[in-house]
Amino acid sequence: MNKLPKVIVQTIKKVVGVGKHELHEPMFCGNEINYLKKTINTSYVSSVGSFVEKFENKIKKFTNSKYCISVVNCTEALHLSMVACGVMKNDEVIVPSITFAGTANAIVYAGAIPHFVDSETESLGIDPFKLHRYLEKITVKRGNHFYNKKTKRLISAIIPVHVFGNICKIDEILKISKKYNLLMIEDAAEALGSFFKKKHAGTFGLVGCISFNGNKIITTGGGGAIITNNKSLAEKIKHLSTTAKVSHAYEYIHDAVGYNFRMPNINAALGCAQMENLNKFLKSKRKLFLKYCSEFSKNTNIMIIKNPINSKSNNWLNTIFIKNLSVKTKKQILNFAHKNKIYLRPVWRPLHQLSHFKSIPRMNLDQANTIYASCINLPSSAFYLK
Ligand SMILES: Cc1ncc(COP(=O)(O)O)c(C=O)c1O
Repeated sequence: MNKLPKVIVQTIKKVVGVGKHELHEPMFCGNEINYLKKTINTSYVSSVGSFVEKFENKIKKFTNSKYCISVVNCTEALHLSMVACGVMKNDEVIVPSITFAGTANAIVYAGAIPHFVDSETESLGIDPFKLHRYLEKITVKRGNHFYNKKTKRLISAIIPVHVFGNICKIDEILKISKKYNLLMIEDAAEALGSFFKKKHAGTFGLVGCISFNGNKIITTGGGGAIITNNKSLAEKIKHLSTTAKVSHAYEYIHDAVGYNFRMPNINAALGCAQMENLNKFLKSKRKLFLKYCSEFSKNTNIMIIKNPINSKSNNWLNTIFIKNLSVKTKKQILNFAHKNKIYLRPVWRPLHQLSHFKSIPRMNLDQANTIYASCINLPSSAFYLK
């Protein structure tokens, strides 16, 4: 067998120690049980309760955003954001093919059509250079809006994704979104604790969406949040997320078809305890990233995906890019690691390769294919190097 699988597994063991290693596990080392008990003792476990507001305030403070609406998960945060921002049925929404399926699913839930674009290999996010040239070629301007010449549909929004916590080329993407009048909704699902020029991920666009799923840097069990600086949008999102219920002491009056997307108090309680330790998690994940960098730098065929210039990543997942990796060797690496109880994962299968997205509009996606062929994610939990 090729030497590479053994070399990679040995290197990982050197960094994280021997034993079983999942890709990313949560860490509960603070007030989690105390706060959960409080919700049970007071019976406020559902969508009303003091922890929800406390959690939202903590997210606002940490991300320096004016408003935060906590919801059931990030997929619905993205869905609701599109509805609230005005993405309409049959609009096209620009989204990278390299992302979690939930990003594109949310576009479909909103009645719109994903339009896949390529990524670059530095941050693994949307390639702004390629995107700009592409939009110049495929769009026609009518009034203030840009339409896809071929499908005749309005291209109304863009969802940049900060993949594995790495800030994508957000300032360049923002410029393009302004030029093409695209609503920018950031998928910062994986990027709590990531900054570009000291500004938090998710605060560049109209809204940003964060995930608190069990595998994220902090967890609420399942959960998400929408952050924004736009007051009327925040009010609309909050209203729609609470079944569009009009405030009244006892009557049930709803003024639109809303959604039951509010985060329950019991999940927010967990989130409050986790937020108290976020800086600690960030520090230990940084240490882990630096140790992986130094160990893998000994092999010239392997590169760690690094924090792009001017950014500070939360180092949520550490990713190696292996030059000229064949399909066979990649499988050997994954199988050998799993046999050794090191649960490495490839990057998501690019969405344009999934059969149900076959007829979705797209540009040439060479780099997305290369990223999938060449990248592997390493065990990255916060507790390895405290
Ligand atoms: C990039 C990305 N977008 C969206 C989501 C959806 O988040 P959630 O699982 O909270 O719905 C996830 C994650 O799990 C993700 O990694």
